[in-house]
This record gives sequence, C-alpha cells and structure tokens, in this order.
Amino acid sequence: MGNEISCERTSGVRSRRERGTLIRAARIEDSWSIAETQVEAWRHTYVGQIPAEYLASLSVPVREAAWRELFGDANHCILVAEESGVTQGFVSLGPSRDEDAEPESTGEVYAIYLRPGHQGRGLGSGLWREAMKVFKERGLSAITVWVLDSNSTARKFYESRGCFLDGAIKGGSIRGKGLVEVRYRYDLR
Ligand SMILES: CC(C)(COP(=O)(O)OP(=O)(O)OC[C@H]1O[C@@H](n2cnc3c(N)ncnc32)[C@H](O)[C@@H]1OP(=O)(O)O)[C@@H](O)C(=O)NCCC(=O)NCCS
Repeated sequence: MGNEISCERTSGVRSRRERGTLIRAARIEDSWSIAETQVEAWRHTYVGQIPAEYLASLSVPVREAAWRELFGDANHCILVAEESGVTQGFVSLGPSRDEDAEPESTGEVYAIYLRPGHQGRGLGSGLWREAMKVFKERGLSAITVWVLDSNSTARKFYESRGCFLDGAIKGGSIRGKGLVEVRYRYDLR
C-alpha cells in the first residue's frame, strides 16, 4: 500500500518523556524485551481465559524471532514505553487487516501490552496517544482493535479512550477452547 505507517517515515514518533517514561519508535534490538513483555502480559492477563497449557508453552525466543521479522515490514510500526532503559510496554500498529475495511483509510492497533507490574499507571494511555498521532499523520480516518470479549480490563481501557463496539465479532479456538473477539472502532476525525 502507498500510505505506509512505518515509524521511520513518521515525524510524529519522536522520543518523548512523560512522567519519567520514554515513548519511542522501537528498534530491532528491542525485539527480545518486546517478546518478554508480550509473554509476561499474556500469562498474567489471560489466566482463566486461554488454556493454561497454551500460556505455559509461550516462548520468548520464538516470539522474539517473529518480532524481528516484523521490523522488515514497512507497514508496521512498533512503539515502546521505556523506564530506566527497560521496555515496560509496547504498541504495534499498521493498516487494518480486515477484509471489510479499506486499508488506505483504516488503521489497526494489532497489540498493546504492558508488563504486569506496570499496568494501571498511565503507560497504556501514553502509548495509545502516540499511536493515534502516527495514524493521524498518515491521514487515516479511523482505527479498529480486536479484543477478547472476556478481557474486561482492556475493554474498559478502550472504552475510556473513546472507542466503541462496531458490531464485528469473530470466533476462534486455542487448544479446543472457544474464544470470541469483539472489534472496537475509534474515529480519528
Ligand atoms: C490494557 C492496557 C494496555 C492499559 O494500559 P494501562 O497503562 O494499564 O492503562 P492506564 O493506566 O493508562 O489507564 C487508562 C484507563 O484504563 C483504566 N484501567 C486501566 N487498568 C484498569 C484496570 N485494571 N481496571 C479497570 N480500569 C483500568 C484506567 O482507569 C484508565 O481510565 P481513565 O483514563 O478513564 O482514568 C494494560 O492494562 C495492559 O497491558 N493490559 C494487559 C494486556 C491487554 O489486555 N492488552 C490488550 C489486549 S487487546
């Protein structure tokens, strides 16, 4: 697509300090800490929602390799929230991957995760604000984000950011457990 969302090409992603937190575009060498954050957050957040054996099987090295590959994708942007040089959270974003969306005008927050000990202190809000700036700079009109319907904390977070359910749902399963995701939408204009 022509309307790239890459962090490098987006002047809005400048490092900035907010209550001692540095929010900046991620670099490939952040892949390990991003993977660690993701695995820790999954294991903490999805207890009782996703089968325990699956959560136990998550692997930081496997996730790291996947993140490293994403750094080669010009349409993918990853921002990290860093405190004292340690990544405590990240958001990854790009064009919508949904068949019913127009990727030239609709962005998607693919993932937003904080390490468990760093939730509820405003880091997520900071990452969200910076992510919305990236989308706005690319001239997008709306973004969407998928969330497990059982993830009430994240749903409250999106709702307090001004997101609303757009009616789309999708089902899937992990290790035989049925999962339902709902889609939130946020208007950038
Ligand atoms: C969802 C998440 C990114 C939010 O970031 P955060 O830093 O914890 O949230 P903030 O401290 O910025 O709080 C933002 C808002 O969410 C609300 N919120 C945050 N944590 C909450 C909690 N545990 N319960 C209820 N509300 C909560 C806050 O009250 C605040 O509302 P306000 O702006 O109306 O005051 C973070 O909690 C997280 O990583 N959760 C686990 C992973 C996850 O579920 N990711 C989303 C997958 S779709």
